Amino acid sequence: MLGNFSYSNPTKLYFGDDSLKFLNEELPKYGANVMLIYGGGSIKKNGIYAQVLEILSANGKTVFEDPGVMPNPTVEKLYEGCKIAKENSVDLILAVGGGSVCDYAKAVSVSAYCEEDPWDKYYLRMEEVDNKIIPVGCVLTMVGTGSEMNGGAVITNHEQKLKIGHVFGDNVFPKFSILNPVYTFTLPKYQMVAGIYDIMNHITEQYFSGEDDNTSDYLMEGLLKSLIHSSKIAVKNPNDYEARSNIMWIATWALNTLVAKGKTTDWMVHMIGQSVGAYTDATHGMTLSAVSMAYYRYICPYGLPKFKRYAINVWNVNPEDKTDEEIAAEGLERMESWMKEIGLVMNISELGVTEDMIEGIAKGSFVMDGGYKVLEHDEIVNILRNSL
Ligand code: NZQ
Ligand code: ZN
Repeated sequence: MLGNFSYSNPTKLYFGDDSLKFLNEELPKYGANVMLIYGGGSIKKNGIYAQVLEILSANGKTVFEDPGVMPNPTVEKLYEGCKIAKENSVDLILAVGGGSVCDYAKAVSVSAYCEEDPWDKYYLRMEEVDNKIIPVGCVLTMVGTGSEMNGGAVITNHEQKLKIGHVFGDNVFPKFSILNPVYTFTLPKYQMVAGIYDIMNHITEQYFSGEDDNTSDYLMEGLLKSLIHSSKIAVKNPNDYEARSNIMWIATWALNTLVAKGKTTDWMVHMIGQSVGAYTDATHGMTLSAVSMAYYRYICPYGLPKFKRYAINVWNVNPEDKTDEEIAAEGLERMESWMKEIGLVMNISELGVTEDMIEGIAKGSFVMDGGYKVLEHDEIVNILRNSL
């Protein structure tokens, strides 16, 4: 395990097909004013909205609604939410939705009492919070981001063509999250598989770093195997509770800081994918799948022993009579076949990227230095061209 670190995760989870009732245990801990944040209306169609509202009212809460959080929430929407939160002195923000709704709730929670422009402070200057933070609770309806148990809050600024995630500290993590796998049954298949790949990529972003013998890597291999197994079942039968509940649990553990401990971690697929998102507003998981194979094939020689281990331990490649390069390549081929099998988008042109956007997307991709290769601008351009 590398370095010195601390570990704590303050988010209390309630998991299972009857977990919404635990909202009754959490609500009395907060004041009367609750800001109810949700997306474009899926929770009204599937009945979750009515169930949540009933519990809020039974607990005597005054509800201030902030609907219409779009996938990839924008900075303009953030300013709107801050106004609602501050004007109504809200005591608790309740996010009911997917990663976009949860991320946005966290962004509002740190921005409502921020005296400067939160975009400049938290996203361009990456400063920490030094003002009042409104507590957040989540009822999760879409699985993938891990936002239910982390400090991530990704905001998109279309005018500046930037999509940036600020990973806040554990003072910003949701205080509680309710994870009911049944709520994810109504997700369109496109969103379900995008979420599955988001989970996959959160794990590989953390796995493909370091050369030491690290417990986090063993944990991740287990999570990956369970994810691949359950994803195949869920794609055939989206109402398979066992598979969907496993996927929900894997998503949370893939990005709640545990498996990053003692590692440097990579995150370049996310940096390139987020920049693709800033230009196209495409679904997050698909921006990752569309650039992944070009990226991993490019960095494979720089982290060969880990790619070999990945092929054998995760994809069951038989190493007999093969070179390390052949083993690693076979692992990536198996990964690619699985991606196609579950129905992921495999190139960025399908997401609306055209040749003339490549330079700008590469420029908007922040370069991280924790993986096997610190990328130059031209290398990002090539990866994007190979992803077209
Ligand atoms: O808006 P509604 O009508 O609710 O529809 C949503 C939305 O259109 C729909 N949906 C959600 N639950 C549903 C449902 N439809 C039917 N039934 C349900 N039960 O799904 C669509 C996508 O939802 P969204 O919340 O946008 O998806 P996701 O959870 O993938 O979140 C994406 C956002 O999270 C950020 C992404 O960049 C993106 O902005 N991320 C956050 C991270 C974090 N906090 O750590 C890390 C990730 O890497 C990611 O960057
Ligand atoms: Zn992600």
